[in-house]
Amino acid sequence: MTDQPIALEVSDLSFDYHGVTALSAVNFKIEQAERVGLVGPNGAGKSTLMLLLNGLLSGQGTIKVNGTLLSKKTIPQIRRFVGLVFPDAEDQLFMPTVEQDVAFGPLNMGMTTEQAVEKARAALDTMGLVGLAERSSHHLSDGERRRAAIATVLSMKPDIWVLDEPGANLDPQGRKELISILQNLPGTVLLASHDLDLVVQVCQRCLLLDAGQMIAEGPTRTVLADRELMEGHGLEVPLRIELETGTRKENGRVP
Ligand SMILES: Nc1ncnc2c1ncn2[C@@H]1O[C@H](COP(=O)(O)OP(=O)(O)OP(=O)(O)O)[C@@H](O)[C@H]1O
Ligand SMILES: [Mg+2]
Repeated sequence: MTDQPIALEVSDLSFDYHGVTALSAVNFKIEQAERVGLVGPNGAGKSTLMLLLNGLLSGQGTIKVNGTLLSKKTIPQIRRFVGLVFPDAEDQLFMPTVEQDVAFGPLNMGMTTEQAVEKARAALDTMGLVGLAERSSHHLSDGERRRAAIATVLSMKPDIWVLDEPGANLDPQGRKELISILQNLPGTVLLASHDLDLVVQVCQRCLLLDAGQMIAEGPTRTVLADRELMEGHGLEVPLRIELETGTRKENGRVP
């Protein structure tokens, strides 16, 4: 970390679902404009953490976004700062056309129809979806739907992007395009993904969560290269790092 202003500050954050502990006293900070990966095995608490960050769930502990403490009173303000991209694009797309989906957020923020459509068209243009603006999201491919879901957040120009598994179900070309989109998102990024090669390409820093606890944090290439740490938490060193460092295991042995 440098001495940039802090975009996100999470202190002693805990959450349980009716007795099932999902997060236990989690602490971390993210500076403005940082790109941070959130990794961990199934059930680690990644999605729960992301829902807490823009007030869709409420737990114990504190969350500060751009210095503002998240509370019932500040949720509308916090949601202008934090743009959440859900793991299932369909949760983000529910209007008759893609353009209406992408204009929905700006309209909701109080813009005129004309302003909202202008924002929507700019976001669709960035996502390469202008030609599909009048289509229903049901008539898009998985990759196009993912891009449309990101466009619904982009049109609101969030300071902080919180993306939960944005790369699921993409073919190699779609995944490549997504990586380039993620690398170029304006603002601060917190990205949860099981695609650790994608995390290596997008995020300089990385947080490792397991069973609701923050296990490690540090430069992505340091944390994800630690074989003992990764395997101890149900993960693997990403292929990209193994190839770069010459530590690829063949038949279980390092050549
Ligand atoms: N609605 C719910 N009700 C009860 N328990 C839940 C609910 N949602 C999640 N959990 C539990 O909370 C814990 C954390 O789940 P969460 O979905 O946050 O993990 P995750 O890291 O996102 O996992 P994955 O990698 O599978 O997406 C798990 O033990 C899970 O079973
Ligand atoms: Mg999840």
